[in-house]
Amino acid sequence: CIRLNSVLRATGRALSTTAGKKQRPLAAETSDQHHGTRNNFSDVQSVRHEQARHSVLIGCPARINENKFLKYLSQYGEVASHFFFDSNGTHAVVEFVDLQSVESLLSGTKIPNDEDLFVVPYKSRYIRVKTTEVGQQAASSLTPPPPPQSPPASRVFQLCPLLSALEEQAHVLQDELQLTEESVRLRYLVSSLISDIATAYFPEATVHLYGSSVNSFGKMGCDLDLFLNLEDIKGYKSGKTPSSYSAEFWMRRVSSGRTAQQKILSVIGECIDSFGPGCNEVQKILNARCPLVRFSHQSSGLQCDLTADNKIALRSSELLYIYGNLDHRVRPLVFSLRCWARVHGITSCIPGQWITNFSLTMMVLFFLQKRNPPVIPTLDQLKNLAGKKEKIMVDGNDCTFVGDLNKIKQSANTESLDTLLIEFLEFYGKFDFRTNCIDIRKGIEKNKPEAAALYIQNPFEQTLNISKNVNQSQLQKFVNLTQESAFTLQDQARRSSKNGKPWGLASILQTTSSDKGATTKRNKKVSASERIGSLLDSLKDNGNTGKTEAEH
Ligand code: GTP
Ligand code: MG
Repeated sequence: CIRLNSVLRATGRALSTTAGKKQRPLAAETSDQHHGTRNNFSDVQSVRHEQARHSVLIGCPARINENKFLKYLSQYGEVASHFFFDSNGTHAVVEFVDLQSVESLLSGTKIPNDEDLFVVPYKSRYIRVKTTEVGQQAASSLTPPPPPQSPPASRVFQLCPLLSALEEQAHVLQDELQLTEESVRLRYLVSSLISDIATAYFPEATVHLYGSSVNSFGKMGCDLDLFLNLEDIKGYKSGKTPSSYSAEFWMRRVSSGRTAQQKILSVIGECIDSFGPGCNEVQKILNARCPLVRFSHQSSGLQCDLTADNKIALRSSELLYIYGNLDHRVRPLVFSLRCWARVHGITSCIPGQWITNFSLTMMVLFFLQKRNPPVIPTLDQLKNLAGKKEKIMVDGNDCTFVGDLNKIKQSANTESLDTLLIEFLEFYGKFDFRTNCIDIRKGIEKNKPEAAALYIQNPFEQTLNISKNVNQSQLQKFVNLTQESAFTLQDQARRSSKNGKPWGLASILQTTSSDKGATTKRNKKVSASERIGSLLDSLKDNGNTGKTEAEH
């Protein structure tokens, strides 16, 4: 635990001295921002979970004196890190060095008095700090920034014309869109607060984050995907002394695992609705293929989806994390293409027949496996490197792959990001979607096993298509766009002068004639700054992620 503590302290120092400034996620702190991290997924997860357990969410007076606030908290124990943000009032996330300090703060916290309404006495780590001081002065440096979920004002288009390489543009885009340190901490803290509710019923259950919050491709405003892990409730240690007697729990039986999940999620959803600190708009979507409870966490601005026993999705997230951190070109390429797809309406925040971010990421990974030499290994190659503990079967599906990034050989491919972006567009502009299916396990095209416009084989549940929801017209739109964007970039490469026009990434982030619902007026290229403006607006809606009930 020494290593864990030193990571916590190091991160804490960085945070507390720079409240309000954009922070890089822990993973990036230990390495160069654009060259990924060698931290294993499980190590990052445990550090983050520990940070969250040591943290409290505090509603603060509007004009808070930071020094006095910290002095007040320090009577309960040493503060490791803190930051403020403004969302429905000023809030702070405060992490203590010791767990006992959290307990001590909570035991020194009153149950509120309300003369008109009855207060439900559910205590959580979301508290409010009040002050009796009149006319207090704000600490000189403290202007709480907006909640860490809203995208910051973009510098992409201001900077793009000044940058001499597309690669630099991609890095600026990634810097602007990726999750900040504060956002990551807030996500783990919300997960930890939900875990406190779930463990009131199931003390051995755990709540995990999955999806883009943890897979290294998350952008500001993406949803918070959580799953309630009940699998580890096994509760059996071999008997003390050999005996002809043995004991088992008297437990309810239901017809299927799915029914059990629905019942459990229903109850937890009810609790979140009735007592969940800062949670509202709770919807129970229990008849979906993967039953879930959706709710909004008000003070963090996070849209949360809680599922039960979704272990395969956690393995998918770890796999994407590995690919994202294996080679320095993967994340900027994925961020650029996710952004490009969103601007042109290829992906959407509403579920439907669109390509999802998850599918698009799989397409990028497949393309990178197909380079010569490959930029990233296939899933089967990662499987062959796995140690004993990494041999994992989930519901009969082989989810084995190596988790230690240091065991994976660096790629011999030296192509630039510019080349990879153009080649991606050309690759899918010519791809034979009619007969072929995409498979990152083998890294080669295969015949489609069944009719579907786009077939991307689920890497773990290998008989499933993760893009079953995509229809022919959406696929065609994607293909047309790849061709147009490839042409734009190639055309620019032929001309040496940029004529002051948007170029590189900036040029392909403009709307084009193939964009949906294009009218004659819209066919005129709108200015780059307008496009990024609406992109950022669309990111703000912070809602659904195109998750399909059909397959998810
Ligand atoms: P965002 O759009 O940024 O939220 O990306 P995301 O990767 O978090 O996607 P989403 O919230 O839609 O789904 C969360 C996770 O669920 C993904 O990362 C996948 O692991 C898994 N998932 C999503 N869609 C599918 C699907 O169609 N099939 C399968 N098998 N898993 C999916
Ligand atoms: Mg998501």
